[in-house]
Amino acid sequence: MSKETTVPNEVLPAFQAKIDTRTARVGIIGLGYVGLPLALLFAREGFAVSGFDLDTDKVVKLSRGESYIRHIPATTIADQVEQKRFQATTDFALLQDMHAILICVPTPLDPHREPDLSYVRGTAEAIAPHLQRGQLVVLESTTYPGTTQEVVLPILEKSGLRCPVCSYSTDGFEITASEEWQTDFLLAFSPEREDPGNKQFQTHQVLKIIGGINASSAHAAQALYAQAFEKTFLVSSAGAAEMTKILENTYRCVNIALVNELKLLCLRMGIDVWEVIEAAKTKPFGFTAFYPGPGLGGHCIPIDPFYLTWKAREYDFPTRFIELAGEINSSMPEHVVASVVKALNQQKQCLQGARVLVLGLAYKKDIDDSRESPSLRIIELLQGEGARVDYHDPYFPRIPNMRKYHFDLESVDLSPGILADYDAVVIATDHSTYDYQAIVRHARLVVDTRNATHAVQEHRKKIIRC
Ligand SMILES: NC(=O)c1ccc[n+]([C@@H]2O[C@H](COP(=O)([O-])OP(=O)(O)OC[C@H]3O[C@@H](n4cnc5c(N)ncnc54)[C@H](O)[C@@H]3O)[C@@H](O)[C@H]2O)c1
Repeated sequence: MSKETTVPNEVLPAFQAKIDTRTARVGIIGLGYVGLPLALLFAREGFAVSGFDLDTDKVVKLSRGESYIRHIPATTIADQVEQKRFQATTDFALLQDMHAILICVPTPLDPHREPDLSYVRGTAEAIAPHLQRGQLVVLESTTYPGTTQEVVLPILEKSGLRCPVCSYSTDGFEITASEEWQTDFLLAFSPEREDPGNKQFQTHQVLKIIGGINASSAHAAQALYAQAFEKTFLVSSAGAAEMTKILENTYRCVNIALVNELKLLCLRMGIDVWEVIEAAKTKPFGFTAFYPGPGLGGHCIPIDPFYLTWKAREYDFPTRFIELAGEINSSMPEHVVASVVKALNQQKQCLQGARVLVLGLAYKKDIDDSRESPSLRIIELLQGEGARVDYHDPYFPRIPNMRKYHFDLESVDLSPGILADYDAVVIATDHSTYDYQAIVRHARLVVDTRNATHAVQEHRKKIIRC
C-alpha cells in the first residue's frame, strides 16, 4: 500500500487480521432501506453482524426473523438470526464490541429545506462513549462534502481517541502515496448506492466508493467492503466520496427536470415526449434516457442536491442548476392537478366536489416506499381544491403518517364498478401489477402521468397524458 507513510500505523494490521479471518464483528446503525440489506449482506458473507436502531418495533420484528420491508424476504432475515450471524438491538453499549461500525441513519431536510444532520450527530454522540482503539467507523448516509471530517470526527474525538486528517493519493485501487500520523481509530465515508426494488443490481454488485480521513482509514474500509462487494473504488478523501454521491443524485435530479420541462413544451407542441425519448435512446453514445413524471420522490433525489446547495453558500457559490431543477420538479404535482382540472372542464365538470381516484402512492413503481412521493402532494392539492379523493396502492393498505402529511385514507378496491364511480382516475405510480387495459376500459377519465397506458388500444379518447 502506502509508499511514504511517515509513522507506522499499529491499528491497521490488527484490523486487517480480523477481516482476513472474518472474525471482525460488524455493527450497522440504522436498520432502514439501506442499513438492513447491508447488515444481511455482511451476515451472508459470514461476519457476525449487530444491527442498532432506536425503533424498538423494528428491532423486535427483526429479532423474530420478520421483515418490515416488502422486497426483503423474512426468510433471509430469519436464516441469519437462526445462524446467529445477525442480531438487532437497541443497546448501544454493544458498540464497544464491534470492529467496524457503519452508519446508515436518515439525512432529511428540515422544514426550511436545510440539512437536518440531527440523526448523524445523534449517532456520533451515541458511538463516542463506546469508541475503542482500532475501531473503524464509516458514515454511509448521503450528505454534503465535509460532514465526516467537520461533524462526525470532532464528536468521535470527544472520546479522547484521535484520527488525524492526512492527505493521500490513490489510483482508485490502491493508495499510491500518503503522509500519516499515528491514528487511534479509523474513519471513512462510503456512500450507499442502494436502489430499492432494482432486480438488475443487488447491493453487492454496485461498486463501493470509499474515501478516508487518512490512508489507514481508507485502507481499512477497503479491506472490509472488499469482503462483501464485488468491487471497491478509492478516492483521496472523505469529502471526495461525499461529493461523488451528491454528483450522482444531482445528475439524476437535473436530467429529470430537463425531461419534465421538455414534456411541458412537447404537450403544447403536440409532440409525444416519450416517443422522442425512445428515439433519442437509439443513439449508442452520448445519451442516457430519463423519463418525465408527476414529480420527484424518494429519500434521495429530491433532497440530496439541496445538501450541496446549503454547503455551497458557505463558499458564496449559487448552485443554479440544482435550484432550477428543484423548481421545475417540485412544480410537477401542480401541473398534474391543472391537467385534471382541464380534463374535467372538457367534460363540463369542475374539480370541486369531483371524485378523484389516485393510483399509486409509492414514489416509484413496485416498491413500498412513499417518502417524498409526489402522490402525497397531488392528493393534498386535489383535496385543497375541494375534490373528494381516494387512492389505491397494492403496497399501502393505508397512508402512513409522515412528517409532512397526515391523511386518514385507506386504499380502496380496484373493481370495475369502483373505477367507474370516479370522475377521474390519476395514474401517479405505474405499478406493474395494474391492468391498464381494464383501468382505461372502466374509468370515465384517465389522467396518466407516467405514460403507463401507452400500450392500451381501446378507449384512447378517455386518456389524458400529462
Ligand atoms: N433509501 C434509499 O434508496 C437510499 C439510497 C442511497 C442512500 N440513502 C441514504 O441512506 C441513509 C439512510 O436512508 P434509509 O432509506 O435507509 O433511511 P430509513 O429511514 O429507511 O432508515 C433509517 C433507520 O435509522 C434509524 N435511526 C434513526 N436515527 C437513529 C439513531 N440515532 N440511532 C440508530 N438508528 C437510528 C431509523 O429508526 C430507521 O430505522 C440516508 O442518508 C439516505 O439518504 C438511501
